[in-house]
Amino acid sequence: MVRGAHYGGACAVLLAAAVALGLGVRGGAAQLDDKFYDGSCPGVHKIVRRVLREAHKADARIYASLTRLHFHDCFVQGCDGSILLDNSTSIVSEKYAKPNNNSARGFTVVDDVKAALEKACPGVVSCADVLAIAAKVSVELSGGPRWRVPLGRRDGTTANLTAANSLLPSPRNNLTMLQRKFAAVGLDDTDLVALSGT
Ligand SMILES: *[C@@H]1O[C@H](CO)[C@@H](O)[C@H](O)[C@H]1NC(C)=O
Ligand SMILES: *[C@@H]1O[C@H](CO)[C@@H](O)[C@H](O)[C@H]1NC(C)=O
Ligand SMILES: *[C@@H]1O[C@H](CO)[C@@H](O)[C@H](O)[C@H]1NC(C)=O
Ligand SMILES: *[C@@H]1O[C@H](CO)[C@@H](O)[C@H](O)[C@H]1NC(C)=O
Repeated sequence: MVRGAHYGGACAVLLAAAVALGLGVRGGAAQLDDKFYDGSCPGVHKIVRRVLREAHKADARIYASLTRLHFHDCFVQGCDGSILLDNSTSIVSEKYAKPNNNSARGFTVVDDVKAALEKACPGVVSCADVLAIAAKVSVELSGGPRWRVPLGRRDGTTANLTAANSLLPSPRNNLTMLQRKFAAVGLDDTDLVALSGT
């Protein structure tokens, strides 16, 4: 379906390959599990941590940016990596939604993580999970809390610019609107403050 489509990001290209292999799952009842890659890619967390530490040497904002990238991915029809998809004949990228345009960043680091993971365990870790792990590791490396992140997401093959524009928090939103948008995805005021901080 998306084979041959032209995407800019390495993650998106590999996503196309995964879909061609029939690994894409939509609407399935698959359960996420923090041990999802224990057998297939046991070094996944270590590899992400290594690449992020390296990226942080040149870019002090990267941990916050990657946390925000996961958050801006998840607000729009779930944590499916759709924020990574570039414009193509079938996709209108979410990167140019007002809350993302010129502020969503860290894409090259996501590609670096994916490349390192492909070397260690080819074709195993989804780009959506790369974002989830990168956010978790970023919080950890910033001195924040640790948690076990459930894994096993499949990558989406569609983006929704309209949804990105309407669902993501905007600097123009008042508090009531912001609380409503976070509540819509099951997040509370503490989440609102923490994520707004990124
Ligand atoms: C991608 O498409 C959107 C919507 O049509 C447009 O606003 C944006 O400029 C395009 N970006 C690039 C890099 O082509
Ligand atoms: C995105 O940013 C570019 C560069 O600042 C600007 O030209 C473009 O109009 C913006 N697009 C949207 C949809 O706001
Ligand atoms: C995109 O998002 C809008 C607004 O949330 C929604 O009405 C529309 O059905 C979505 N389109 C697709 C193809 O999912
Ligand atoms: C907040 O914004 C919403 C949507 O724009 C508006 O309907 C509402 O009246 C505003 N609430 C306050 C307290 O300003």
